[in-house]
Amino acid sequence: MSAVVPVGVVTVSDRAFRGIYQDQGGPGIEAALARILATPWRPVRRLVPDERPAIEAALIELADKEACPLIVTTGGTGPAPRDVTPEATEAVCARMLPGFGELMRAVSLRAVPTAILSRQVAGTRGSSLIVNLPGKPSAIAECLDAVFPAIPYCIDLIG
Ligand code: MTE
Repeated sequence: MSAVVPVGVVTVSDRAFRGIYQDQGGPGIEAALARILATPWRPVRRLVPDERPAIEAALIELADKEACPLIVTTGGTGPAPRDVTPEATEAVCARMLPGFGELMRAVSLRAVPTAILSRQVAGTRGSSLIVNLPGKPSAIAECLDAVFPAIPYCIDLIG
């Protein structure tokens, strides 16, 4: 692993992609990671629409080409027809880690009853751990804080 760890930061949003509003999810992930991560790291950012081919291509590139040990997505985890981030994540992962989604939903439920609407998942592709977060900026910190204690060990195990 290089001295400065590349971390994939993927915003999945039709409206942010089209420039209808400014991406808040990506900066939200980076702010949370800046607070949590002890090792030097740099974001490798991608902004994609709610479309499986675009999401899958970004995840594959960040895992296989950019060699990101951690890839965090935000958005597209709900039940709306265009919410396909979990499907894209499952398609590119070799193995799923259901505990991540279970814990993030459980923690989020203490804050909002609508947390059950998120289908967020996590899984591994090679030496990369991919974690889905909901799109709401407030959800990003809540979810990342909950699962982060397990992330460095997980990355060690798959690396
Ligand atoms: N989790 C937390 N912690 N806070 C939230 O506000 N919003 C929920 C849920 N999870 C929420 C949350 C809502 S309203 C939805 S629709 C789903 O996440 C999916 O959001 P997404 O489609 O933006 O990923």
